Amino acid sequence: MDRDVWNTRYAERDLIWSAEPNRFLVAEVSDMPPGRAIDIGAGEGRNALWLAEQGWEVTAVDFSNVAIDKGRRIAEHRGLDLDWVVADLRDYVPPERSFDLVIEFYIQVPSPLRQEIWRRAAAAVASGGTLLVVGHDLTNLEHGYGGPQNPAALFTPADVVDAIEGLDVIKAERVDRPVGEHIAIDALVRAVRGPTP
Ligand SMILES: C[S@@+](CC[C@H](N)C(=O)[O-])C[C@H]1O[C@@H](n2cnc3c(N)ncnc32)[C@H](O)[C@@H]1O
Repeated sequence: MDRDVWNTRYAERDLIWSAEPNRFLVAEVSDMPPGRAIDIGAGEGRNALWLAEQGWEVTAVDFSNVAIDKGRRIAEHRGLDLDWVVADLRDYVPPERSFDLVIEFYIQVPSPLRQEIWRRAAAAVASGGTLLVVGHDLTNLEHGYGGPQNPAALFTPADVVDAIEGLDVIKAERVDRPVGEHIAIDALVRAVRGPTP
């Protein structure tokens, strides 16, 4: 979907996604000491805002100015200071080895851009830092609930692992996400860059 389509979706109502952070973000990150984080494809900022509340210094990137404006307003309301960036991931290259945490949640872009975004996200992880990618798993189409119905927008944990270089993979798995009475199937990859000797 292009920027105008996302902007229209975001303009339709107050919040498209939940105000709460994603459950896997909370589970994976709660024990980490806060540092510098970047949320790639941040949308309205539910995850970026939560990270900022935990003490992270957060950059939030999305090409939807409508979504970014919403995130900025929520941050002001909550007294949080984030770096909001309106940028297209086709061009945006995060600074290399600069973030203790790089997250990318539910980006729905086709190959080969998707692989390039993952590769750049991995390159942005600082020494000792973590990459966390979560998205709609390919098996969700047949066996899960909701999410995009276009297979081109879906991927597997192995797809992420294949695209990233220089990181040690800690987790690459399918995870269940309850949606009311239903179960959605997500792909989750957590990888780290070993500390520079
Ligand atoms: C499904 S939403 C997920 C938002 C957020 N990560 C979350 O979990 O709440 C996907 C986001 O990717 C953004 N996006 C899609 N293609 C993009 C691109 N080429 N450049 C920047 N952002 C993009 C959309 O604007 C949208 O906010």
